[in-house]
Amino acid sequence: MKIAVLRESRPGERRVALVPESCVKLLKDGFSIGIEAGAGESAGFVDEAYREAGASVEGDAASLVQSADIVLKVNPPMSGADGTRNEIGWLQPGCIVVASLMPLRNLAEVAALAERGALAFSTDAIPRTTRAQSMDTLSSMNSVAGYKGVLLAAAELGKYFPMLTTAAGTVFPAKVFVIGAAVAGLQAVATAKRLGASVTATDVRPEVKEQIESVGGKYVGIELSEDASAGGGYAKELSAEDQARQREMLVAQVAESDVVITTALIGGIFAPKLITPEMVRSMRPGSVLMDLAADGGGNCELSQPGETVEEAGVRILAPLNLAASMPEHSSLLFSRNLTNFLQAFSDEGSFRLDLEDDIQAGCLIVREGAVVHERTRDALSKGGGAPS
Ligand code: NAI
Repeated sequence: MKIAVLRESRPGERRVALVPESCVKLLKDGFSIGIEAGAGESAGFVDEAYREAGASVEGDAASLVQSADIVLKVNPPMSGADGTRNEIGWLQPGCIVVASLMPLRNLAEVAALAERGALAFSTDAIPRTTRAQSMDTLSSMNSVAGYKGVLLAAAELGKYFPMLTTAAGTVFPAKVFVIGAAVAGLQAVATAKRLGASVTATDVRPEVKEQIESVGGKYVGIELSEDASAGGGYAKELSAEDQARQREMLVAQVAESDVVITTALIGGIFAPKLITPEMVRSMRPGSVLMDLAADGGGNCELSQPGETVEEAGVRILAPLNLAASMPEHSSLLFSRNLTNFLQAFSDEGSFRLDLEDDIQAGCLIVREGAVVHERTRDALSKGGGAPS
């Protein structure tokens, strides 16, 4: 089968779906690979590196896609809306698309993929199981976000993170508070700790206490009246009573923190509003709030996704698509995830559709003209979707 890799054209996107290292592996497995010219450039992978790996570099994106059995992308293929190029219109019916479709946030593209007759898998919907871990782009990208979020917060703070004993006296470590301790949050705890900060973290799933401590953080939590786990490691919304008790704890923790990093999501999609304007105003001027849930709408009521705002001397950062700001390693990890997915389900360069397989069944979004992913189908029938 022929794999096509397109240049990403979403504003601010610098990643590429396949890096030369992965081309070598997939070519060895019997696939052929065409890369759109310049596709890897913004991530540091030049055309020559792809040629050396054995892929062909092609200038005409439309004919590249028309000749492909499999299309790999980071973001969903473009539908031609808003003057973008119509990548979906180039797909041959039955063409396999593997990308991080974020289907609930990209309903129009999902509908267009179905109409085109594509077979589309979304790597962010891969089940969170041990077997699927090496294919899970959501984890790889969230980990980059947790790391980069801490670096940006540290750069914004007018203080050292570590304790330093200098000739001019001692300065005490910065206090960092992380809310939500799954992939991004745990990476944020570990990164802030490595920089020398004093780190505290919370989550509504008490089982993460040990994980927070294992990466050097101190756990703080509340006793919940109801279990907040929604299955699969995801959280559900807290009851009104538990929300009030959590708010009390957050009021105290936020006020004494130099940096607050928020990563909380409900069901992996929606960001609950946890930080009120009053909590922000209780922080010392010069403090920083890094809202890593901005792609889901943000955990702070004052966050403006994609922008930095200031309230009472506190800087509130809500960067979008942070993984794209570290494109070389983000692309490398994303590419390895996609390669592991293809390799797990192919024989001699041919992809094997297996609907009995829990990984394929979990991340298959579109097949034979229909949207087969239940949550996406529900969102489409309600005409809604998640905030993007
Ligand atoms: P996520 O990005 O969906 O959620 C972030 C965190 O926010 C979650 O830990 C959630 O409990 C927390 N949260 C929600 N509401 C909150 C509130 N009001 N206050 C404080 N925290 C709140 O999480 P991600 O990174 O997508 O991981 C989801 C689950 O999948 C986790 O349990 C993770 O350990 C698990 N996982 C398993 C993998 C595997 O076994 N292969 C791979 C990656 C993740």
